[in-house]
Amino acid sequence: MNQVRAVAYADRHVDITLYPAHLRRLLDVAEQALSDSGHARILIHSGGASDYFLDDRQVPFKVNPHYAWFVPEHSQHCGVLIEAGQKPQLFLHQPLDFWHAAPAAPEAWWADQFSIHPHQDTHSWLDQINDCSDLAVIGDDPLLVQRFQTSAINPARLLQSLHLGRTTKTDWEISCLRLASQLAAGAHQAVADAMAPGQSEFALHLIYQRAAGQCEIELPYGNIVALNQHCAVLHFTALQKAAPAQLHSLLIDAGASALGYASDITRSYSANPGDLYAQLIAAVDELQLQLVEQVRVGMDYRDLHVQAHRLIAAALQQLDVVRLAPDEQLDKGITRAFFPHGLGHYLGLQVHDVAGLVDDAGASIARPENHPFLRLTRKLVAGNVLTIEPGVYIIDQLLQPLLDKYPQAFNLKAIAALRPCGGVRIEDDVLVTSGAPVNLTREAFAGL
Ligand code: GLY
Ligand code: MN
Ligand code: MN
Repeated sequence: MNQVRAVAYADRHVDITLYPAHLRRLLDVAEQALSDSGHARILIHSGGASDYFLDDRQVPFKVNPHYAWFVPEHSQHCGVLIEAGQKPQLFLHQPLDFWHAAPAAPEAWWADQFSIHPHQDTHSWLDQINDCSDLAVIGDDPLLVQRFQTSAINPARLLQSLHLGRTTKTDWEISCLRLASQLAAGAHQAVADAMAPGQSEFALHLIYQRAAGQCEIELPYGNIVALNQHCAVLHFTALQKAAPAQLHSLLIDAGASALGYASDITRSYSANPGDLYAQLIAAVDELQLQLVEQVRVGMDYRDLHVQAHRLIAAALQQLDVVRLAPDEQLDKGITRAFFPHGLGHYLGLQVHDVAGLVDDAGASIARPENHPFLRLTRKLVAGNVLTIEPGVYIIDQLLQPLLDKYPQAFNLKAIAALRPCGGVRIEDDVLVTSGAPVNLTREAFAGL
């Protein structure tokens, strides 16, 4: 048996035989990081959920992503201790608790890679770890500041090395990310099939969750399920429970988690085939695929972002929304009003994964001037996983000053036709390889 069901009722798997090589690579990254920072050991604490204010209920637990990088099953009050040349040690919380379900017993396929020390309470295991100057501690559990010197907790250089290590994915991580795309693609399809007048955003969200088989706290981010003008709100999560009187458009930006790894997928749909909004969706879909095709080793992601603006400008001109050539649209900042967010970001254990804005030495790489929201400025290398998510929106707050300044540049009828539809975004998750990019999301849709 070399496969595991990652999600109990999903007909999808990850290949667990890839995990030992993943962990070996992480130990190499950690050893190099230790030697660079002058520490001898790292303790990575999984975290612990705090209580709501004046309450005895807990905020949902979110694992420290560095812990999740090493350990595929996640529970609170655990720690991984790494020391060069040693088998990693896992301090595993196994409480005697008749109020809550016990954490699952560790499965041999991953647990055999660690020396395991079980403990029952939340903190006394920390006393087994010598707080010498050679120790670095990664985490944010409040117990850590009580137990360790401040200088030992999250030392910047070591943390940066770990973040950089996470930017290139192992085969194990790619298989988890592929599974995350597969789970989300099936759920996206269920929502597309259910789109109809009378459906509310909240009802579509429930359809998504049921099809993905994931509850809210398992999803990698709050689902964006937007109808009509709500599609213009970039992070619309105020899902309405009443259906709109008339249906024009749907934008769904939703992912899934697989062993801690995220997918991040957006699709847009018109309720009226052939209308201008449907044509805009087709145009954004086409230019999105052109951008994905350019994802190559050595590509500066900033250039791809600027290229997206050029392609969007050409589409706006071609659809007679803007009556200026692409260069002039870029010069006047017009595309930045229609497409105000970044082209994409790294993806992994976090939906906006770490180290997108620094070079290999940890120095920051500036965003292009006037593009303050871009989350990835690096040159691409094989093993990066990132999103490509161009969009076009009618956001009056951003458009109005340009309409006032350049009234001849716009086709007001076209803008009025698009306004009730809000906007379009198409987002896929893409793996950089030494050759052609692998579009994990399109592959997942094709495999449904
Ligand atoms: N779902 C958030 C984003 O696309 O970045
Ligand atoms: Mn995204
Ligand atoms: Mn998204």
